[in-house]
Amino acid sequence: MKVVIQSHAAAAVDVVVAMVARELHRNPYAVLGLATGRTMDPVYAGLVALYREGMLDFSNCRTFNLDEYAGLHRDNPHSYHAYMKRHLFDAVNLRPHYTHLPDGTAADLAAECLRYEQLISRLGGIDLQLLGIGLNGHIGFNEPPCDLASRTHVEELSPETMRQNTPLFSGPDQVPHHAITMGMGTILESGRCLLLATGIEKAEIVAGMIEGPVSNDLPATALQTHLDCTVILDQPAAARLRQTVAARDFWTEVKASPAPGRSF
Ligand code: F6R
Repeated sequence: MKVVIQSHAAAAVDVVVAMVARELHRNPYAVLGLATGRTMDPVYAGLVALYREGMLDFSNCRTFNLDEYAGLHRDNPHSYHAYMKRHLFDAVNLRPHYTHLPDGTAADLAAECLRYEQLISRLGGIDLQLLGIGLNGHIGFNEPPCDLASRTHVEELSPETMRQNTPLFSGPDQVPHHAITMGMGTILESGRCLLLATGIEKAEIVAGMIEGPVSNDLPATALQTHLDCTVILDQPAAARLRQTVAARDFWTEVKASPAPGRSF
């Protein structure tokens, strides 16, 4: 696991945007794994800005999102499909049929999970997976305690995750109880993982993810076993790391080399 610490959130976002852009420059046919959530908003804004400047072309790349709420139609403004359309899909030249999210309204959700897994395999797997982390250490919607080898499945959301998501809905009773999520095993098969965490409220869980033992009580710790995982943090999110590292500006290194940061 490599950890890149930037002094503030905007600089951490710039690193992620630069790493995704470099992946697309290197391989215009890349399969990107995408995440949603507040942490990702500025990442998509950065990618859209590069596209508008003519610096990025999404026309040949394919995308798979980590998760989708069960029971929400893709046109529901709270669905992750709608989120992706707002933040990325409608703003760049991604081909709609090259973008994939699980269908949370499928009549047979188990069959839908299998279809999603098989589609990822058929397209050769995910080259670069973007990740955020929940306050309870979830990745995608793999809630603790979780099976660290799981495949795409239906997950019951924890009370903490539902509380975290309530502000995005019109009331607590509107927050879905279940979601389809790629499993930890699916995520760990991605060629490369990039996890972004910003803000002091993530500091405790980030320290557990990086420095704690691998445990199904903190799903994100499984990323320690991935051969090519980079965690990008702002200084507040890095505040609880015991092996403290002075904030450094890795911008130049990120542009120049594929592996910025320190290794654990
Ligand atoms: C959503 C996802 C989640 C979020 C996590 C952090 O697709 O994968 O694991 O990354 O809940 O959410 P924010 O960024 O809103 O704190």
